Amino acid sequence: MSTDTNTTAETTTEQATESTGDDSGGCTAKSSDGSSKQESVDEKIGSTVDDFDADPGQLTAVGLGPGHPEGMTQRARAALLEAEHIVGYTTYIELLPDEITEEADELYDTPMCGEVSRTEEAIDRALAGNDVAIIGSGDPNVYALSGLALEIIESKGATASMVDYEVVPGVPAAQSCSALLGAPLVNDTVSISLSDHLVPMPEIESRLHSAAGESFTIVIYNPWSRKRRENFQKCCEILLAHRDPDTPVGIVHGAGREDEEVMITTLGELEALGEAEIIDMTTTILVGNEETYVWDDRMVTPRGYETKYDY
Ligand SMILES: C[S@@+](CC[C@H](N)C(=O)[O-])C[C@H]1O[C@@H](n2cnc3c(N)ncnc32)[C@H](O)[C@@H]1O
Repeated sequence: MSTDTNTTAETTTEQATESTGDDSGGCTAKSSDGSSKQESVDEKIGSTVDDFDADPGQLTAVGLGPGHPEGMTQRARAALLEAEHIVGYTTYIELLPDEITEEADELYDTPMCGEVSRTEEAIDRALAGNDVAIIGSGDPNVYALSGLALEIIESKGATASMVDYEVVPGVPAAQSCSALLGAPLVNDTVSISLSDHLVPMPEIESRLHSAAGESFTIVIYNPWSRKRRENFQKCCEILLAHRDPDTPVGIVHGAGREDEEVMITTLGELEALGEAEIIDMTTTILVGNEETYVWDDRMVTPRGYETKYDY
């Protein structure tokens, strides 16, 4: 097994570009002249399907679940053990159990950001004849790379069938975190990411208003980073404009990881926790609906059984 750690996405993006890999979530890229640019400006698709002579291998997008080996599905483990090359963000490669990394021929990891170049690297390796797994936390269809992979395959003039593209689902953070909090997501739920890297903040605000104005429980992904403090503050203001300050809120940091931390608080207290350690890039926040309550240190959102049955 060989390990290939990249900071320059060498085969597919401009050589002079290096991801800063901080926790900004803003994915600023730094050029060799020292100037900062948005990553999307720098990442470009390089090769096309015509550049490859080999019979393509397989490409599989694998969701790891929350992070601990027990949280990974059997199907994900089997897909990773079968893969010749495993491609992913450095943190996720580091989360893989030894039995998987030792079995792979090559590991290719890049720091935070660089999603486009990392995904293209995985596709190019598959088009070059290797069986490749591209990994991510949770599920590949939740704010992750499964759609991007299909878009890039198409832009290369290839097809999904050519690389036998498959998605292996994983347990998303909403569900891992919900399980640690009791039963907060048992009824209709909306997920919203506060990352404005790809979606402009006014659009995120509009989505927050819509969700908070209806009776959904709300899952907040990407709640905070040093460069996005204002997004978190704005989110708290919008939620409070629609919901009672006593609304229960669950906060889970690092579900299934060594630094896992769980807290149940109220919407009125949430904004003040923005600077606390529990809220960062690896935190998911679950905001109850108007029926959610806290019982015995657990969040409970009734499904409605009590309206039909006596118990
Ligand atoms: C780019 S999204 C990826 C989501 C992932 N695909 C999923 O299905 O959960 C990253 C966000 O997921 C959430 N997240 C990922 N892993 C987590 C964990 N172990 N504990 C709590 N939240 C997590 C955080 O909100 C983080 O900012």
